[in-house]
Amino acid sequence: MSLPTTYTRIIFAERPVGDIVPHKAFRIEPEHKLADLEPGEKQVLVAVDYLSLDPAMRSWLREKKTYREPIQIGATMDAGGLGTVVKTGKDSKWKVGQTVKGSFGWTEYAQMNDEAVALVEVPQGGELLDFLGPFGPTGMTAYFGLFDIGKPKPGDTLVVSGAAGATGSFVCQLGVLKGLKVYAIAGSDEKVQWLEKELGVTKAFNYKNKDFYDQLKEHMGTFDVYFDNVGGEILEFMLTRMNLYARIVICGGISDYNNPNPAGIKGHLNLISSRGLMQGFLVFDYASKFGPAIAEMQQWLSEGKLKSKFHVVHGVKSAPEALPLLFSGGNTGKLVVKVSNI
Ligand SMILES: NC(=O)c1ccc[n+]([C@@H]2O[C@H](COP(=O)([O-])OP(=O)(O)OC[C@H]3O[C@@H](n4cnc5c(N)ncnc54)[C@H](OP(=O)(O)O)[C@@H]3O)[C@@H](O)[C@H]2O)c1
Repeated sequence: MSLPTTYTRIIFAERPVGDIVPHKAFRIEPEHKLADLEPGEKQVLVAVDYLSLDPAMRSWLREKKTYREPIQIGATMDAGGLGTVVKTGKDSKWKVGQTVKGSFGWTEYAQMNDEAVALVEVPQGGELLDFLGPFGPTGMTAYFGLFDIGKPKPGDTLVVSGAAGATGSFVCQLGVLKGLKVYAIAGSDEKVQWLEKELGVTKAFNYKNKDFYDQLKEHMGTFDVYFDNVGGEILEFMLTRMNLYARIVICGGISDYNNPNPAGIKGHLNLISSRGLMQGFLVFDYASKFGPAIAEMQQWLSEGKLKSKFHVVHGVKSAPEALPLLFSGGNTGKLVVKVSNI
């Protein structure tokens, strides 16, 4: 395979305050010399095929440490992805042509230590992108958040916010296939249609409609499990609709990620009378259990009980403009950047 002499990467240029303004926060740097990424001992050069865009990236752009260190100004923007080994250093354990996953960042090529990448073996009937979807962090977040924290019981009422997004759409489907009553919350009528017609939820609601809370109350009544991707007002409302021993899974709070001064919640004392449980989690803590969970997701995919949807943008240069789609609701399913031409 002949390699180009230059490559493009995207630099983190300025910490955003409030919404991300792509051309201020990021700088596109073409014409970097690929020769500067010559792999050393126990290193590889990876051609990046796909990159994952995630709401959590907003927290990486803050100055303050969150669950990981912030990205430094002037560094390549970080991102997990899938790629192909195109060159190996002396004593590398990898072979040219192998497909690997790792934190490559917003770049066309990445020089990686052997231990910083892991082999990706696409199962029969599967596709590479599944490793950013059902078999990747998104699918695993849905699986462990719902089953380990939400602990749904047969016949339970499950409510999912951010329901047409990457994580939420899997949570909805896992709920449907476990026979739960699934109420889905999303930000457009098209998403509502997709959730009801394609994913088979009991009923979906557009939270931007004026009568949203009345409609939700009328149809759902009260709930047993609420899988929260958005926080804010919707979480506040759900805290008033708990069944006895309800579980609230705090997966994310995207409605506040761009807000420098989030208001916080007021209704938590409702947890006392309902004996409710509200718990956060981080998917990476379940890494040792991913194997069997992926096998189960694969089984459901092959049986047609689970569908994955990707929103693909093309070229690493499109990453800065695409990231804010997560905050405007411009994506349905998992947002990814296709970097190489594979
Ligand atoms: N705990 C963990 O380990 C973990 C791991 C992965 C992800 N997460 C969290 O899970 C959530 C979903 O992540 P994802 O990767 O699957 O992203 P995603 O759902 O594919 O994309 C984000 C979605 O959030 C919705 N949204 C944006 N602003 C909103 C607002 N103000 N109010 C309500 N909805 C809003 C948008 O859809 P609408 O059109 O419906 O508004 C958008 O499509 C995020 O909060 C993320 O941080 C947590």
